[in-house]
Amino acid sequence: MNFKLTDDYLTGFGLIDMEHRRFVDILKGLDQAIKEEDHLKIKKVFFAMVDYADYHFSHEEEIFEEYDFPHLSGHKKVHQEFRDKVKVILEQMKTGKDETEDLAVFLVDWLLNHIKKQDMVFRDFLELKRSNERSGNKDG
Ligand SMILES: [Fe+2]
Ligand SMILES: [Fe+2]
Repeated sequence: MNFKLTDDYLTGFGLIDMEHRRFVDILKGLDQAIKEEDHLKIKKVFFAMVDYADYHFSHEEEIFEEYDFPHLSGHKKVHQEFRDKVKVILEQMKTGKDETEDLAVFLVDWLLNHIKKQDMVFRDFLELKRSNERSGNKDG
């Protein structure tokens, strides 16, 4: 897995980018634990990731709301899909199914993809908003 947060993963909104970096660090830990086949560590890091996802999604939604981001409700739905998938994995962990690692890999992909595609819609929105404000300021 490639975890490098290149420019195309940056929204230009400091707090969100910082949280995405932290997120990627956790995912690196998960990837490492999977490679080491350290099942206890996989679980530990997985739970840390779930907690962080919850925290980050809620915070991101708050920021989007504050900025009147027009795609907020669709974005919330996508975050919820992730939470639902996590629930399924947690259930499977309880019953001891060993597909957990495949699913963890899937979630890592999902998250990176989400940052790169859907979170970037906010970057585009923010850029437009800022440039409108700049031209607005010039006129006024
Ligand atoms: Fe995000
Ligand atoms: Fe998001």
